[in-house]
Amino acid sequence: MIRPHGSGELRPLFVEDEDRRQTLLEEAETLPQLLLNSAAAANAVMLGAGYFSPLPGYMNAADATGVARDMHTAASLFWPVPCLNLSTDTSAINGAERIALRDPNVEGSPVLAIQEVASVETLSEDQIRLITEKVFGTLDRDHPGVATLTASGNRLVAGPVQVLNYSYFEQDFPETFRTAMQIRAGIAANGWDKVVAFQTRNPMHRAHEELCKMAGATVNADGILIHMLLGKLKPGDIPADVRDAAIRKMVELYFPENTVMVTGYGFDMLYAGPREAVLHAVFRQNAGCSHLIVGRDHAGVGSYYGPFDAQAIFREQVPEGALEIEIFEADHTAYSKKLDRVVMMRDVPDHGMEDFVLLSGTKVREMLAGGQALPEEFARPEVARILMEYYRH
Ligand code: ADX
Repeated sequence: MIRPHGSGELRPLFVEDEDRRQTLLEEAETLPQLLLNSAAAANAVMLGAGYFSPLPGYMNAADATGVARDMHTAASLFWPVPCLNLSTDTSAINGAERIALRDPNVEGSPVLAIQEVASVETLSEDQIRLITEKVFGTLDRDHPGVATLTASGNRLVAGPVQVLNYSYFEQDFPETFRTAMQIRAGIAANGWDKVVAFQTRNPMHRAHEELCKMAGATVNADGILIHMLLGKLKPGDIPADVRDAAIRKMVELYFPENTVMVTGYGFDMLYAGPREAVLHAVFRQNAGCSHLIVGRDHAGVGSYYGPFDAQAIFREQVPEGALEIEIFEADHTAYSKKLDRVVMMRDVPDHGMEDFVLLSGTKVREMLAGGQALPEEFARPEVARILMEYYRH
């Protein structure tokens, strides 16, 4: 199986030993407390679950700005998006060496992790601007990722963490939330070698189904990992439980048995387009996948990124050998009325736009909310039914 990023072995920061975990939970009650923001909590979950291996914890300003500038930490580890614990107010942890990190996303804010405080720095406006601009490609506060980062404060709490649970993800998505360790184990148990990962934050329609099938056939994969984001989204995006049900129905009815693993990871969507695509590649390599599908407007929002910028970054900015996972570059995929099947546009140069069944996200939402069936060329009827249920309640 493909090696984890930056190291021969996966280094998850979750405390597996139950006695040790209980001892740390007791210790946490005696420590100064810091209530995390959602992004920092999601980072802790990703560190715990092995997806962010080999990071030892939250970055300091030197690592964060290095990663923002040219995708390398001060110690030369390739990493595309800073892993931050930012706070608006750190007075409660003044001078502390160890602190308890509390989870903002679970009722009662229980302890999520213990952090050793290596440093607390104040990021300057220039540093925040650099990080924002390099990661998101814009300073526009209407961009949902920029808005979240801007609201996070400028106090940067760096240092290693010991993760004590997986926030709300295990409880809310017991069948779907999986760690990188579990996915590696699943791939090994299936006897797979080549595995294509499909990142998604949306329900999957026919284009997405075919994209997975085409990628699998092209690289001669043993299996496909559908790996959905289970964390926070911008308003209007479809909640994870609805997506999960729709995706499971599609896999059950339209994929051969035992060829797909339907799983998810606990992270908030950044909407960082190209940089997020590279982060996606890092953590799918950690999960044991040999390939990642990157299609049109991957991890994008609005018109902040060009439709294929998230593919170009791998060719133009990711140094040779920095990652072992390979990218399957997908062109715009849609149903061809001429050929009566889903195709990639690059494969049908004789087609005009009018030859495809194309529906915007807004149009799809309108139709579903109005109880109108989606065309069968666009969505599987069983999938559309689940989505319609959601929109009508
Ligand atoms: S994302 O934010 O998670 O990237 P989404 O779930 O919509 O959003 O997309 C999942 C993956 O499918 C991404 O790689 C995206 O580029 C790709 N994709 C989605 N729709 C299409 C399409 N019609 N043609 C080509 N690729 C697509």
